[in-house]
Amino acid sequence: MSQDTIKSPALAAVIGSPVRHSLSPTIHNAAFRHTGLDWLFVVWDVPSGLAEDALQAMKTFNLAGLSVTMPHKTAVAEAVDQLSPEAGKLNAVNCVARQGDQLVGHNTDGAGFVASLKADADFNPEGKSCFVAGAGGAGRAVILALAQAGAARVGIMNRTPAKAQAAADLAGEAAEIADAEAADADAIGNFDLVVNATPVGMPHFAGQTPFPTTGLHAKQLVVDLIYQPWETPLLKAARAKGIAALNGFGMLVHQAGVAFELWTGIPAPVEAMTAAVSSKITVNSDQQPHL
Ligand SMILES: NC(=O)c1ccc[n+]([C@@H]2O[C@H](COP(=O)([O-])OP(=O)(O)OC[C@H]3O[C@@H](n4cnc5c(N)ncnc54)[C@H](OP(=O)(O)O)[C@@H]3O)[C@@H](O)[C@H]2O)c1
Repeated sequence: MSQDTIKSPALAAVIGSPVRHSLSPTIHNAAFRHTGLDWLFVVWDVPSGLAEDALQAMKTFNLAGLSVTMPHKTAVAEAVDQLSPEAGKLNAVNCVARQGDQLVGHNTDGAGFVASLKADADFNPEGKSCFVAGAGGAGRAVILALAQAGAARVGIMNRTPAKAQAAADLAGEAAEIADAEAADADAIGNFDLVVNATPVGMPHFAGQTPFPTTGLHAKQLVVDLIYQPWETPLLKAARAKGIAALNGFGMLVHQAGVAFELWTGIPAPVEAMTAAVSSKITVNSDQQPHL
């Protein structure tokens, strides 16, 4: 074979630390295979403080796409050439795409969340009342996306009031702050969509729910962003009342799908991505995978 015929695949990567258990290679390599793209997705463990170097490497090595996870989401937001409106508002980037010689930072969590509501529950937030417990990275992305999707009300409850206020600012006039100390079961019953964006429900919370579940009822949709365990105490309580309930797996897959589309410009093969990552979650059910 002559040198001229040797062609390297386009390279994409995830940076984070720790990043060893990342599901990103599984999900994106499945998407590349399924669409016939000669692309390869790899994992780079990049220590805290070196996000800017990683972005420079993205330029040097002509990387086609970058996923970003903890602890680099804010540092990357500050170092890219441009930010999408969402990433700018959230000051957090989970996906970097190229635009000519510019690196553009995006945040695909909110779009992934809204896409999963549509795909998995046929739920459109437009004109709806939505409640979100938690105002960290995931909660903020969800709150912003719900407001952008036209939610009439976005109720926000968070343990630290200042963070609830900062998240409320993302939702503008739709925002309502709920008192976390006096979490009221009846008030939660007044929302069409109820979302848990706190870690309460993960194994170390021993059966706890993030808010009282007594006011939940069958006309609501309940979503827990946690997907490990597959069914949290909140989802269990909701399903016991006949309430439609989703875990965070759909958001996980769809936010990766949005990243794939930003990098490649072609529709994400969501079914193939779902199949690839589901088998991995089952196999590694004792671990806490992340993208
Ligand atoms: N499905 C997906 O694709 C996806 C993506 C991202 C995250 N997640 C899940 O979403 C959850 C939140 O992640 P994150 O990245 O937003 O984390 P984060 O930035 O650390 O924020 C955590 C949020 O939960 C609140 N919180 C933490 N411990 C709490 C407790 N014991 N009681 C009440 N509230 C508590 C925090 O309140 P304070 O402000 O008071 O600290 C904060 O609002 C995690 O379970 C994560 O696994 C899922």
